[in-house]
Amino acid sequence: MVIAIDGPAGSGKSTIAKLIAERKNFTYINSGKLYRAITLGCLRSKIDIKNSEKVIEFAKNTQISYDKDQVYLDGEDVTPFLHTDEIDRNSSPLSSIVPIRHIINDLIRSLSQGRDVVVEGRDMTTVVFPDADYRFYIDASVDARAKRRYDQGVSALSLTEIKDAILQRDAIDKNKVEGSLKIAQGVEYLDTSDLTIIEVYDKLIDKID
Ligand code: DC
Repeated sequence: MVIAIDGPAGSGKSTIAKLIAERKNFTYINSGKLYRAITLGCLRSKIDIKNSEKVIEFAKNTQISYDKDQVYLDGEDVTPFLHTDEIDRNSSPLSSIVPIRHIINDLIRSLSQGRDVVVEGRDMTTVVFPDADYRFYIDASVDARAKRRYDQGVSALSLTEIKDAILQRDAIDKNKVEGSLKIAQGVEYLDTSDLTIIEVYDKLIDKID
């Protein structure tokens, strides 16, 4: 079974997807972490994210793997380094490079093969698994998303700067040539701005069960 969840940055979809996967004993796949890992690898190798050719070359020549929500680049677990302001900023333009999307989509499909999975990202319900058993779009207002990010205490930015950064990422994510963030026909839409994690979980599980 495939449960596909999309939504903008900070909507809470990762927390929800992970919780559903844990409780149902499904494999959890966070596609954003794969884009973040390639971004990290490029930044470490001093590759300019705007240089698509170099970015693609890097991705083709690096072994990218994902297991139990940990991401590996050539065997190194890079998971602890994926959530920084710099990677937030650079992963959005990197994810606009179409061949990079194809590399990641292939990886996600092969990871999902023959398994019960909860997959989340921006194009899981539209491009990667348009025929998923369950498809959800998890949304929240930009203010709610900025506040959640701010409250995590992992960003050096002010609340206003976080809000601006989220708006910029939204604009890029919604305007990609391929895999742009959109509310696909037939998905279950949920605005979580005023809901707790458990309330969102209950609503999704109601649909699934
Ligand atoms: O979900 P996230 O914030 O960790 O994602 C990191 C970046 O990757 C974000 O800018 C959007 C992009 N992304 C994407 O384009 N497609 C996906 N399926 C998942 C993430």
